[in-house]
Amino acid sequence: MKDFISLHDHSPEEIQALLELAIKLKAEQKAGIPHPILKGKTLGMIFTKSSTRTRVSFEVGMVQLGGYPMFLSSNDIQLGRGETIYDTAKVLERFLDGIMIRTFAHQDVLDLAEHADIPVINALTDLLHPCQVLADLLTIYEHKHTLKGLKLAYIGDGNNMANSLMFGCGKMGLDCAIGAPANYSCDAEVVAQAKEDFAKSGANLLLTTDPVEAIKNADVVYTDTWVSMGMEAEKAERQKLFMPYQVNKELMANAKEDAIFLHCLPAYRGYEVTADVIDGKQSVIFDEAENRLHAQKAVMATLMG
Ligand code: CP
Ligand code: NVA
Repeated sequence: MKDFISLHDHSPEEIQALLELAIKLKAEQKAGIPHPILKGKTLGMIFTKSSTRTRVSFEVGMVQLGGYPMFLSSNDIQLGRGETIYDTAKVLERFLDGIMIRTFAHQDVLDLAEHADIPVINALTDLLHPCQVLADLLTIYEHKHTLKGLKLAYIGDGNNMANSLMFGCGKMGLDCAIGAPANYSCDAEVVAQAKEDFAKSGANLLLTTDPVEAIKNADVVYTDTWVSMGMEAEKAERQKLFMPYQVNKELMANAKEDAIFLHCLPAYRGYEVTADVIDGKQSVIFDEAENRLHAQKAVMATLMG
């Protein structure tokens, strides 16, 4: 495993191993047992988009692994002034032991990984958010004690989260239903690739425009903002169009009674989810946010250790 860019690139066994390492690192950290696996190593963290969870969890995670996290804002590095990905990759590989990048175009991350001889971790692109889904799988496992055979329903925009959740479910054998408006469903190429994963694991994928059909009997209900980073110009139009996809008490009543609610955050109460759901008993969003730390430590330790 050189890079961590898409869950589609990894076998179920590799993903399982990451989850098991995350569980071990989490237990050690809670018990105060140090694990300086990356002592003396440096992670460059390139951000061309905002972040709370990703930045903090990667920085803290790197420190807990004994390494050094270096925040590289695109406002400050020459990449933001037009230096090429190729030159950036070739220079950074001389200094760093790994690069984490959050940016717009998924191709930029693929190019960075191709040209840099050091591990590259995708910390969100317009297409995918695999670190989040690894943390989500960990959270689901902790609450449901299994992954295979569960049903996850994603309601809302067929965005980077929906795309990555399809890969995560397909790989690990969870049934997945995406309820998204027509013209706002998942990326066609991602769907085609995910179908290969579902065929291998034997789990089912349902793509529908009907949120009630999608959420029916779900063990895990997931939503995300209707206005992802970079889509601010479409905000008003999206907030109107997506309203029938709001995860509220009425819609939740169609899921299993013991269903858990997940959201990658940041959340916008009153839009994609109502406060009574996201702040209610079924919501495990802060366990989910915490698990970013443990899941990403497993990724960094595996790739850079
Ligand atoms: N979920 C997530 O990636 O959050 P941030 O945008 O705050 O990093
Ligand atoms: N879909 C959201 C996820 C944020 C973590 C976005 O891309 O803005």
